[in-house]
Amino acid sequence: MYLSVLTVFFTLYSAASGQRDFPPGFKFGAATAAYQIEGGWDADGKAPNIWDDFIHKNPHVIHNRSNGDIACDSYNLWRQDVQIATDLGLHFYRISIAWSRLLPNSFSNQINEAAVKYYNNVIDGLLEKGVEPFITLYHWDLPQKLQDLGGWTNPLVADWFADYARVAFALFGDRVKTWITINEPLIMCEATYSMGLHAPGVSSPGFGDYLCSKNVIMAHAKAWRIYDEEFRSKYNGRVSLTNHLIWVEAQTKETEELAEISRQFIIGMFAHPIFTAEGGWPSAVERIVADNSKNEGYTRTRLPPFTEEEKELVRGTYDFFGLNFYTSRIVRTANDDEKIGSFPLSGCPEIGVVYEPLESWPKAVVDWFYIYPEGMRKVLGWLKENYGDLEYVMLENGFTNARSGVLLAIKDGVNVTHYTAPKFGLVEVDFNDPHRKRTPRASARYYANVIQKHSLDLH
Ligand SMILES: *[C@@H]1O[C@H](CO)[C@@H](O)[C@H](O)[C@H]1NC(C)=O
Ligand SMILES: *[C@@H]1O[C@H](CO)[C@@H](O)[C@H](O)[C@H]1NC(C)=O
Repeated sequence: MYLSVLTVFFTLYSAASGQRDFPPGFKFGAATAAYQIEGGWDADGKAPNIWDDFIHKNPHVIHNRSNGDIACDSYNLWRQDVQIATDLGLHFYRISIAWSRLLPNSFSNQINEAAVKYYNNVIDGLLEKGVEPFITLYHWDLPQKLQDLGGWTNPLVADWFADYARVAFALFGDRVKTWITINEPLIMCEATYSMGLHAPGVSSPGFGDYLCSKNVIMAHAKAWRIYDEEFRSKYNGRVSLTNHLIWVEAQTKETEELAEISRQFIIGMFAHPIFTAEGGWPSAVERIVADNSKNEGYTRTRLPPFTEEEKELVRGTYDFFGLNFYTSRIVRTANDDEKIGSFPLSGCPEIGVVYEPLESWPKAVVDWFYIYPEGMRKVLGWLKENYGDLEYVMLENGFTNARSGVLLAIKDGVNVTHYTAPKFGLVEVDFNDPHRKRTPRASARYYANVIQKHSLDLH
């Protein structure tokens, strides 16, 4: 998804007027990630992160051999971004901090003053215009130095991340009240350590992804506890992570159980340890991986267990449920010897299934986004059923039509309070222009209108 400009699609939900108003107080925002927009990859002391290194060494992996060296040049052009956020009428704007910019040595012994100045400029610039800054601490750009030490497969990364989080809370917490520790553990661990697609391209399915999953959860939990113990009383903000949700649906009665187990692999892995009273991995996932590991002749399960102390440390480390939603799938049993296909999530080989879109779902932009607004509504209902009546905050979503799914879920009684569109789906950046000219798309005008009217009913 990096460096591609997402397009927003319109499928208007038809209902009687008045049915399409968002509740009072519902907030609209837009989201970006540091590597996607900042550029300045080695400016003012910034150290390389895994994407810098990976793409410099493997330029062919990115479309048109582009990279994030300059990206949208937001490191220099941040004033324009603040102005665009203001013009759109956003209530909040979600950015991420580049760990290797703030801490060039990766560790908290050295803070880069130029980075502090840059993030202060953006935060203060937004606040002056009445746009609330949300900050993601980790949007997939690990310092390369830490990758050389094993990255997210090394359990010590949880402490390194916690130290970095403390620095950020201390520097910006007086003004930033909503923090997202980690963006999408599912995609981060699967695409990086299982499929080997994302930087640094480690292909270790059924091992690397599970090590990453546990360490990410521990990292999040330690950061949340630091905020809770050292900063909450002073700054009164809130902290959570954001999960990438894929709605998996059964087409037949026989696959209903497989669909439910799939949801536990895809959503439960990163929600059950944090959002349930029981804590730890979802029991179905734990049992299946343990059985498979035994049958494969391993002496211990490939899924690293949580100790009782770790379960306790992780449980309840949230202030809301953050979610990103893009797409849905149906599940079916894989045929004998069938390759897992284009969507090889860890759960697939473990339970012998394939995930596919329905033919009737329109395809959008990239190969794996298929549009099914009902999926948004159903996943929100499933979350409420499994994790309770929490506050649900949508932190990324690619497609306008899913907004109607959000609205329907709200009417179903799910407490969704925020909606976030990816900003550069709204604004086109000319990467051939040295000045990186930004041009709002039709979708930006539409979104600005939705925000202003607080409704999908624009007449
Ligand atoms: C690919 O790169 C060429 C040369 O820099 C540029 O002219 C073209 O617009 C790029 N295509 C896309 C889709 O970015
Ligand atoms: C939704 O959550 C917010 C934040 O926790 C809370 O203030 C609000 O009362 C909740 N709304 C409903 C309808 O439960």
